[in-house]
Amino acid sequence: MTFTQDQFVASSIVKFGKLNEYIQEKLVSDFSAIKGNMLMAEGLRKYIQENLETLRAKQKIEILDIGPAIGALSTLFALQTLNEFGLMEKAQIHLFDVSAKVIEQTLNCKFFFPDSIINPKLKNPIHQKLRQAKGEVGSAEKLPWKDEKFDIVLAGFLFSHIHDSVKPLVSKEMERVSKKGGFIGIAENTNTKTAAAISSKISQTRLEKLFKNKKIAFKSRNQKDMAYTICIEK
Ligand SMILES: C[S@@+](CC[C@H](N)C(=O)[O-])C[C@H]1O[C@@H](n2cnc3c(N)ncnc32)[C@H](O)[C@@H]1O
Repeated sequence: MTFTQDQFVASSIVKFGKLNEYIQEKLVSDFSAIKGNMLMAEGLRKYIQENLETLRAKQKIEILDIGPAIGALSTLFALQTLNEFGLMEKAQIHLFDVSAKVIEQTLNCKFFFPDSIINPKLKNPIHQKLRQAKGEVGSAEKLPWKDEKFDIVLAGFLFSHIHDSVKPLVSKEMERVSKKGGFIGIAENTNTKTAAAISSKISQTRLEKLFKNKKIAFKSRNQKDMAYTICIEK
């Protein structure tokens, strides 16, 4: 069974798994989400270091964040990582979420993250990037873009919201829309205690199998094993 847009009511109250089960996520205070995104940024940093000249030569770096939730934490970390290499200016952000409210609030910067997450000096340029971002509402098994559109595709804690039968469609779509030589970053929870969407949790091994023909460029788990990341170079 898959879920329709109407079933996802508000930003972070997501209906999934058993029909009568609602999980309310407090993403901003969710430590494992922050850890997982930091790991993903580490993978991105390594990718940028290895592809710096190619990225510098680009006019634009097209970034897609799938399932950003309000505030687009994965994008915030990615922009700050690009900034370390003087590349933030080139970023064009695209946000894709099943919740219209997520897109609306993020594009209007109606969220708050503490200074430890957004460097105060970068807050204005990051907010400007989000205000200039393009937002689309839909479900990730069908992405509304042509093949090889994006340099960077991010999915932080998305797969645990996706039904098992749909996960392979989502990974295929992520591969389809990312450019050859591009970067795909995924972060997920490791154990049921920290996983918000327990029924659809996916192990690192199973997630890697969804991308089995691709090079896993970086993978990591945080010390307390709350989250893991896999980063793929297409
Ligand atoms: C846990 S939040 C992810 C937050 C953020 N990416 C992070 O790393 O902290 C999951 C997000 O995925 C969105 N989502 C759930 N199912 C989706 C689907 N089928 N297609 C697109 N977005 C989906 C939810 O609305 C929510 O914004």
